[in-house]
Amino acid sequence: MIHKTIADFPKDFLWGAASAAYQVEGAWNEDGKGPSNWDVYVRFPGTTFKGTNGDVAVDHYHRYKEDVALMAQMGLKAYRFSIAWTRIFPKGRGEVNEAGLRFYDNLINELLKNQIEPIITLYHWDLPQELQDVYGGWESREIIEDFHNYSVTLFKRYGDRVKYWVTLNEQNIFIMHGYLNAIHPPKVADLKRMYQANHIASLANARVIASFRNYVPEGKIGPSFAYGPAYAHTDKPEDVLASENAEDFNNHWWMDVYAWGEYPKVIWNYLTREGLAPILEEGDLEVLKKGKPDFMGVNYYRTTTYEMNPLDGVSSGKMNTTGKKGTTPDTGVLGLFKTIRNPNLEATDWDWEIDPMGLRIALRRITSRYRLPILISENGLGAFDVLEENDVVNDEYRIAFIRRHLEECQQAITDGVDLLGYCVWSYTDLLSWLNGYQKRYGFVYINRDEDSEKDMRRIKKNSYFWYQKVIETNGKQL
Ligand code: BG6
Repeated sequence: MIHKTIADFPKDFLWGAASAAYQVEGAWNEDGKGPSNWDVYVRFPGTTFKGTNGDVAVDHYHRYKEDVALMAQMGLKAYRFSIAWTRIFPKGRGEVNEAGLRFYDNLINELLKNQIEPIITLYHWDLPQELQDVYGGWESREIIEDFHNYSVTLFKRYGDRVKYWVTLNEQNIFIMHGYLNAIHPPKVADLKRMYQANHIASLANARVIASFRNYVPEGKIGPSFAYGPAYAHTDKPEDVLASENAEDFNNHWWMDVYAWGEYPKVIWNYLTREGLAPILEEGDLEVLKKGKPDFMGVNYYRTTTYEMNPLDGVSSGKMNTTGKKGTTPDTGVLGLFKTIRNPNLEATDWDWEIDPMGLRIALRRITSRYRLPILISENGLGAFDVLEENDVVNDEYRIAFIRRHLEECQQAITDGVDLLGYCVWSYTDLLSWLNGYQKRYGFVYINRDEDSEKDMRRIKKNSYFWYQKVIETNGKQL
């Protein structure tokens, strides 16, 4: 669709930026916080890039006032952050830790004082280790009750001030990395267990959304899904079929459940034949159906292109965590699809294909299929930034990246997409789970690296000043 004129961004558009507790806070064992699965996992040799961890991260826990002051100067309208479950319940359940609750009270109040809308993520991957040890975390139905209790504690405490809530961040990623690719905790590679843990996470997600209505009736809640739209490599019908397989298998498997409380039929059938479908208990489908979100949160980084994969084709891949371009092998599911590099797109140093129009396609597909408003809860560029003399970081490539994605958001709004906001990943530089500190995403440079915490001084990159102008003009000046 080529529009003759283009719509403006809505007046109350949430110009935002995002982070996650483990990646920014540090203070991993302070003020009563219990250990999370990540606190434990990073201590096993070889699990993260150069053995990096979030013990100190970028010290946001102690410097949140300085960070919020920078957001205020920028004119940021919304800040998405996650709450560390282990600060609130050090053991995941049981006694609540008042000091943990107070930290987020202070952060929320500081944001509101500066007219910044807080967007809370309930779960951004840092599971209480105790729950992993006692009952196997997401593999046990016990977690549904514990996650509910933790979430309701937050609704009661912050619901008077916080309108926007994200339930699970990228369920598809933490489940696949944790139970299939074995690169996140609990480092399992077992498809059957993966689908079962995923089903339990879906139930936990839906249950919490249903309860939310009782505690924060005016609020809005939804999951954040890592949506990578599928493309067909060629117009050969078998490649188109492969991309359909991928869209169903990698995307609808989650989003259909969020929006409709139903699993996609074709994939359900496939998994049943393979003996991999999750076990449904009585009442599960009703629980899923009651968890309809107010919006679909979308974390968009890239599209993926597919071709058909024979039954003896490619089945496993490896992630590029070094930033050495061109080191990501193709991956796939036998008999369904395999990935292939899209020759029309440039890629980042970590081999993530850059596709701004793919974001419009993502927004359009969600709108057509689910008719839900959308919050872009993450989008951004991981790059090697260079700190030049006089504290200058000339990240023109990041500006170009975000500008192009915002142009496509505007096209999508013109198409009729109900877009609530756009959160750049990330506000400050932060710890990338598996890629250390060298893969930087922020508007604000943090002076630290893998080898040294240095002084962790905050430095505004060029993109900071550019986004400031974008916000000031409500997107008129991109
Ligand atoms: C998303 C996560 O997957 O992408 C973030 O929600 C993450 O936590 C971001 O940091 C970028 O991924 P990476 O691997 O480059 O840090």
